[in-house]
Amino acid sequence: MADDLHPGHQAKEYQSPTVVPFWPEHLLKELVVGFVAVFVLVLFAHFTPVPLGARADPGDWAFQPAPDWYFYWVQNLFDVGGYYWSVLGLTSLDWILMFALPTVGVMIFIGVPFIDRHKERRLLKRPVMLAILLFGFVFFGYFTANGVYTHKTLVAAEPMAIYTSSCATCHALGPLGNQTGVFKLPDGQYIYPPPLTNVGSILTASEIRHQLVQPEGGMPQLNLPPAALKYLVGWLTTLK
Ligand code: HEC
Repeated sequence: MADDLHPGHQAKEYQSPTVVPFWPEHLLKELVVGFVAVFVLVLFAHFTPVPLGARADPGDWAFQPAPDWYFYWVQNLFDVGGYYWSVLGLTSLDWILMFALPTVGVMIFIGVPFIDRHKERRLLKRPVMLAILLFGFVFFGYFTANGVYTHKTLVAAEPMAIYTSSCATCHALGPLGNQTGVFKLPDGQYIYPPPLTNVGSILTASEIRHQLVQPEGGMPQLNLPPAALKYLVGWLTTLK
């Protein structure tokens, strides 16, 4: 009360050596540290550039979209969650899974410092928070790993999917595809597509590639996008 009536007294207290004024001492230090941090980032960006992926190609139907690794968990969570969501017959309520639940989750995340006002800093004294933290590690870890695995499996299955959709009507592959070895073109001409079962020991990679880019012997031009070509040729050469 007395202090309020004596502003001069207060001012004196601010000048006491234990109180560091916000400006310039505190803010100046923060600014310097901030600039140094940004400068270091700029140096990193300049000297260790992260290469960009291939250019987007709208004609590449073999492309499997994938997020950066730290977002694999989101994609996988929606994949897996979406699957069980549809199993539960909730497809018409997709907005809950895709919008409401993530929004509530993010809001809780932002709210943590306000909800949890605990002063205790030792982890073991805070079992609930520790449990949430560990759950977070397991949760994000699982969906990240599962996302990476799913993407790899999809990419590995790609050539087989292309074979089934674009080559199987003509070419046999082991027990799959056209087993008669004869194919009638729309113009009535018969062509004799050989089986691809062990094409890797008959033709080299560049010969296979050539046959796909400039087909001979009645095989149609399939206009495969570059990425599909790459997967296919790589895979066909392994068929021995
Ligand atoms: C309309 C039928 C047809 C389709 C579809 C087709 N091919 Fe062919 N393909 C042929 C014929 C016919 C030949 C034989 C050409 C020859 O005798 O010179 C052939 C030859 C080949 C050869 C050379 C095989 C060898 O042993 O000489 C390869 C490799 C091949 N095709 C791959 C493919 C792939 C991969 C696809 C799918 C992306 C495909 N073909 C789709 C008809 C077809």
